Amino acid sequence: MRDLFRRAGIGTAELEARLLAEAAFRVDRLELVNRERELARPEQLKALEALAERRLRGEPVERILGEKDFWGLSFRLNEATLVPRPETEMLVERGLEEIGGLDAPRILDLGTGTGCIPIALLSEFSDMRAVAVDLSEEALVAARDNARRHGVDRRIEFRRGSWFDPVASGERFELITSNPPYVESGTIATLMREVRDHDPLLALDGGPDGLAAYRAIAAEAPLFLGPEGVLLLEIGAGQAQAVSDILVGAGLFDVTVERDLAGHERMLVARRG
Ligand SMILES: C[S@@+](CC[C@H](N)C(=O)[O-])C[C@H]1O[C@@H](n2cnc3c(N)ncnc32)[C@H](O)[C@@H]1O
Repeated sequence: MRDLFRRAGIGTAELEARLLAEAAFRVDRLELVNRERELARPEQLKALEALAERRLRGEPVERILGEKDFWGLSFRLNEATLVPRPETEMLVERGLEEIGGLDAPRILDLGTGTGCIPIALLSEFSDMRAVAVDLSEEALVAARDNARRHGVDRRIEFRRGSWFDPVASGERFELITSNPPYVESGTIATLMREVRDHDPLLALDGGPDGLAAYRAIAAEAPLFLGPEGVLLLEIGAGQAQAVSDILVGAGLFDVTVERDLAGHERMLVARRG
């Protein structure tokens, strides 16, 4: 299977073949190695073949498995959730640096998907509370499930609506995070099939210039940030200048760009004052 995956151009062929074998045989990595011969029974091989076929048809391995690791925690996926990406962990890391020392801080995550950003943050500090918003009720079903699995459900409130709509006018947050949809509508058709055909359109489509969500979030963020509040936004390739301009135009201060481990401009940090 590993060679089949390689020939199909799958970059992480070995890892993906192993993960699918663990799922088909319902064993962990160690068992897979120790019981290799015993596990290769015809019905089990058939189960593995079925999973391999789905992968070869372009379904990402995380979708087949139904979960993805993020910040060392496993997040359940459904059809309405984006598969969390490792680069988004930058928002968690920076968020912890910004508010980790505060007393009972409140965070708001906009476009929460699986809930990966706020749940990862809450898993680090027991006195933190969060509100998480998504337009998709189905995504919130997965996010609520993930919060329960990781034991933070009592400290997070999930609200359905568009960006700040479900946030009351008097609410203030020390940290607002978002990894919004940022792909230009016209380029979605050119994305890798794993993304284009399997991530939900609502999680990808950032409007004609990819910036619609940033405009909406920037316009209202100053109203909901606490006095020393910080806004962290994930951005797509080539968007740093345009999104910085939007943030400055909306009255936010100290706007800086941060690069990810691969050296790409990936996150914007902005402050209320
Ligand atoms: C790029 S995904 C990010 C999901 C998750 N935060 C992550 O990093 O994996 C963007 C999310 O924004 C949600 N979304 C799209 N438009 C929205 C809107 N107008 N208001 C709130 N959420 C929205 C989508 O449903 C999706 O879950």
